[in-house]
Amino acid sequence: MACIIIDMKTCICTFIFFHCFLPCKCVGLNDTTNCTCIYPPPPAPLPSPAPPSSPPPLVFQDVRIAEVYPVIQQFKQTIISDPFNITSSWVGPDVCHYTGFYCEAPPDNDSALALAAVDFNGFQLSAPTLEGFIENLPDLALFHANTNNFSGTLSPKIGQLRYLYELDLSNNKFSGPFPYNVLTATGLTYFDIRFNFFSGSVPPEIFMQTLEVLFLNNNNFMQKLPDDFGSTPVFYLTLANNNFTGSIPRSIGNLSQNLVEVLFLNNQFNGCLPYEVGCLNQTTVFDVGNNLLTGLLPSSLGCMGKLEQLNLAGNMFYGHIPDAICELANIQNLSLSNNYFTGVGPCCKKLIKRGVLDVRRNCISCFPDQRSSHECATFLLKVKICPVDTDVNPCQIYQSPPPPPTWHHARSLRVSSTRRWVAYSTLERLRLM
Ligand SMILES: *[C@@H]1O[C@H](CO)[C@@H](O)[C@H](O)[C@H]1NC(C)=O
Ligand SMILES: *[C@@H]1O[C@H](CO)[C@@H](O)[C@H](O)[C@H]1NC(C)=O
Ligand SMILES: *[C@@H]1O[C@H](CO)[C@@H](O)[C@H](O)[C@H]1NC(C)=O
Ligand SMILES: *[C@@H]1O[C@H](CO)[C@@H](O)[C@H](O)[C@H]1NC(C)=O
Ligand SMILES: *[C@@H]1O[C@H](CO)[C@@H](O)[C@H](O)[C@H]1NC(C)=O
Ligand SMILES: *[C@@H]1O[C@H](CO)[C@@H](O)[C@H](O)[C@H]1NC(C)=O
Ligand SMILES: *[C@@H]1O[C@H](CO)[C@@H](O)[C@H](O)[C@H]1NC(C)=O
Ligand SMILES: *[C@@H]1O[C@H](CO)[C@@H](O)[C@H](O)[C@H]1NC(C)=O
Ligand SMILES: *[C@@H]1O[C@H](CO)[C@@H](O)[C@H](O)[C@H]1NC(C)=O
Repeated sequence: MACIIIDMKTCICTFIFFHCFLPCKCVGLNDTTNCTCIYPPPPAPLPSPAPPSSPPPLVFQDVRIAEVYPVIQQFKQTIISDPFNITSSWVGPDVCHYTGFYCEAPPDNDSALALAAVDFNGFQLSAPTLEGFIENLPDLALFHANTNNFSGTLSPKIGQLRYLYELDLSNNKFSGPFPYNVLTATGLTYFDIRFNFFSGSVPPEIFMQTLEVLFLNNNNFMQKLPDDFGSTPVFYLTLANNNFTGSIPRSIGNLSQNLVEVLFLNNQFNGCLPYEVGCLNQTTVFDVGNNLLTGLLPSSLGCMGKLEQLNLAGNMFYGHIPDAICELANIQNLSLSNNYFTGVGPCCKKLIKRGVLDVRRNCISCFPDQRSSHECATFLLKVKICPVDTDVNPCQIYQSPPPPPTWHHARSLRVSSTRRWVAYSTLERLRLM
């Protein structure tokens, strides 16, 4: 020990590894070597242990809070990693102030208090399963768990959650088959399982749920879409970055009342683009880039009056680009690169000049950045012929006055008000809401 004398009465004793700010007693007026730290007196021996008594009973705000308390405590025991120390707040009866938990009066009783929402977005918690947890929170309306390390299966009892309408399990470690049990949750309107490791097929029933938002992108799903695909009320549909195959069903045209954004990019969709796509007159984003689609473009695409983003790049479309597409009033980005188109009309030429239309790597003679004539000739020798485009013009069929926008549902507006194009942000891992 060495000491530094601060004044004649105080000094700081320096141990080899750390500083001791205990009071010191120094011998000699200015002697720096003979100081001793004065340690506090040793603690008094502990009083003999109090006779065992049960802890005071926890007092909960509502009987419904008392019911979920043990469920949360049990789930807490299963958490194996909690880098942000979230669960340290999960103690005591005040469940409504636990980090990530939100209470509200439930719809069935204004004077009660219930656990309404669990928002674990970004908490990076690890647990082997959510089974035993979600389905035992009977008043749960929202469960958000973007960017955690959850895996396992969901309980069939999740269908008993009468108020559940948003389930976000995106960017976790779920694997295995599609979580079929969510199909029983009839009130579900927002379902997001993007960025997991689900594989196999998606049950066709999911396209018959009353979902408004369905994000399945960035998994390993591999299957055809059902033929009668067109009965879902979905607004935002993202199947991107999977292995969906088969053709885009004609029944997609039946989604014209609601489908706002559709992202099918980076799959294995093949066959021809159905003429009925042109009926999607609410759609602002239609992206089927990087698939195996072929054929002539249906001129009905020119009827998609609200279209802002159209991406058909990286397919095997050929023929003349219908000039009607380039006359769409709201179009902002028209990507047709990496196909085998051979001609463009005057409107499309204008869009190329404005940088809106991209036709690089096609077979348009006298245009820059085109495929080699050999490549084009080889392809065009063995093109797949698609059904002849019908003469019926969907723009003329549907010239009835626009219906009142009943589909403008409050929740979907909330989603869309946060970002310009909702669906493109699903291609990033992070939370959307
Ligand atoms: C300090 O301690 C040393 C050795 O312990 C001793 O020889 C010396 O006399 C002491 N100095 C004073 C001022 O007490
Ligand atoms: C310490 O004390 C001695 C005499 O006891 C004195 O000669 C010396 O100058 C003093 N040193 C300081 C730094 O005050
Ligand atoms: C976690 O939080 C508790 C209580 O707030 C605290 O006592 C503990 O030291 C924290 N642990 C870490 C690793 O931050
Ligand atoms: C509503 O909730 C309150 C508070 O929990 C409770 O006292 C009351 O009995 C409930 N009413 C009904 C009809 O369940
Ligand atoms: C996620 O959990 C797995 C085991 O379930 C573990 O090996 C991995 O380290 C965890 N990752 C993080 C970021 O906690
Ligand atoms: C799609 O399937 C191919 C071959 O079966 C595989 O290499 C690829 O990783 C799959 N892609 C996805 C996103 O599952
Ligand atoms: C669209 O829906 C109607 C009625 O539900 C159905 O009769 C028709 O076959 C559907 N169209 C397609 C192409 O599936
Ligand atoms: C247009 O869309 C394509 C395909 O989605 C994209 O790669 C490109 O960056 C977009 N261009 C602009 C200017 O947004
Ligand atoms: C959109 O198409 C549907 C039929 O698919 C039609 O009933 C509706 O009037 C059309 N809306 C607009 C704005 O054209």
